[in-house]
Amino acid sequence: MTKLSWGLVGGGAGSQIGPAHRLGAAVDGEFAFVAGALDHRAEEGRFYGRSLGLAPDRAYGDWREMLAGETGRADRVDLVTVATPNATHFEITKAFLEAGFHVLCEKPMTMTVEEGEEIVRIARATGKLCAVNYGYTGYALVRHMRAMVARGDLGRIRLVVAEFAHGHHADAADADNPRVRWRYDPAQAGVSAQFADCGIHAMHMASFVTGQEVETLSADTVSCIESRVLEDDAMVNFRMSGGAVGRLWTSSVAIGRQHGLSLQVFGEKGGLRWAQEQPNQLYWMPLGGRLEVIERGAGGLSPEADRASRVTVGHAEGMPLAFANIYRDMAEAIRAEKDGRAMDPAADLYPRAEDGLRSMAAVFAVAASGKAAGQWTDARPPMFRD
Ligand code: NAI
Repeated sequence: MTKLSWGLVGGGAGSQIGPAHRLGAAVDGEFAFVAGALDHRAEEGRFYGRSLGLAPDRAYGDWREMLAGETGRADRVDLVTVATPNATHFEITKAFLEAGFHVLCEKPMTMTVEEGEEIVRIARATGKLCAVNYGYTGYALVRHMRAMVARGDLGRIRLVVAEFAHGHHADAADADNPRVRWRYDPAQAGVSAQFADCGIHAMHMASFVTGQEVETLSADTVSCIESRVLEDDAMVNFRMSGGAVGRLWTSSVAIGRQHGLSLQVFGEKGGLRWAQEQPNQLYWMPLGGRLEVIERGAGGLSPEADRASRVTVGHAEGMPLAFANIYRDMAEAIRAEKDGRAMDPAADLYPRAEDGLRSMAAVFAVAASGKAAGQWTDARPPMFRD
């Protein structure tokens, strides 16, 4: 089996998310890293690319050079990951899709709902894969939760409680640090800070696990550090397409919380609880039963969870391996397309451009509702309204 070839835009030396993408793409031997425009500074990007083993003519100085270079090659990359800062996602993703490349874009996919709709239209028109890196849905036990809900173990879902609360921007003395300040500046961050950065992961996970979309929401947004224009904390109530009631808390001032992503799902027949900092255990309480700990890698889990696990039970799998599951799904989708066959349904779980668009609509709904004292607001993108 020949490897697929993979290119990365962004993720330069010292970036936060670049290493997780390189690990995730490489883990299963599906992708060879062959091209990159890794840095906003051309020479640094070329140098870093070469230091990671890229051929000199594929260690590009910027993404436009990479687009031109790869478009002209017979052995062009099969997949391009966009891991640059948020405001650049739209134009880079659009350009690569239009040139016929499959794309995995970091979240948030775009800065506006209109741009999100345009990406969805382009992906549909070109037939290219466009995924959004809600990489935490790649955890085996998150996929197992989804499978348990889908097969009816919980019965009708009543409640979903999602959190993504950390404390890394809680120091008021640090609020003017340029590395922190831009995140709360509307000119650079858009209409929302903490919800757009972290809340959308938790909201997307609630949809992924329940199979229901967020339809309406009411948000209480606040800047706990008063000099901030955009919110550093939000509590969002929402209603989902299948009748589930959602509660979501996101914060960047929750001192003592680290990554702080968790999901609880409560149905008529039982409840599930999972937290990203202990991702190898899932807590399942059947109605009238006893609390069970479901271990990742144990026998008898769903095909989706089995496919997403690599090491045996008792050995922890972490975040880069969750990202690796997004890459593995995409590799299966690309290979199925090349071979003219249907893809493995257990792999058909990577988040799509449509999910990125839904998140953007939710971001704008949270910002609007927050300004309107929590008024209930339609959270669906216009193109998905009836
Ligand atoms: P960062 O600031 O640490 O790194 C950004 C990298 O992109 C740098 O190497 C920079 O030189 C490069 N870059 C900037 N503009 C570029 C351009 N025009 N062309 C090529 N390279 C360029 O940022 P970080 O934290 O790695 O975030 C990148 C993206 O990943 C953001 O959109 C962020 O929201 C997302 N992210 C997603 C996470 C997830 O869990 N899915 C977690 C952390 C970040």
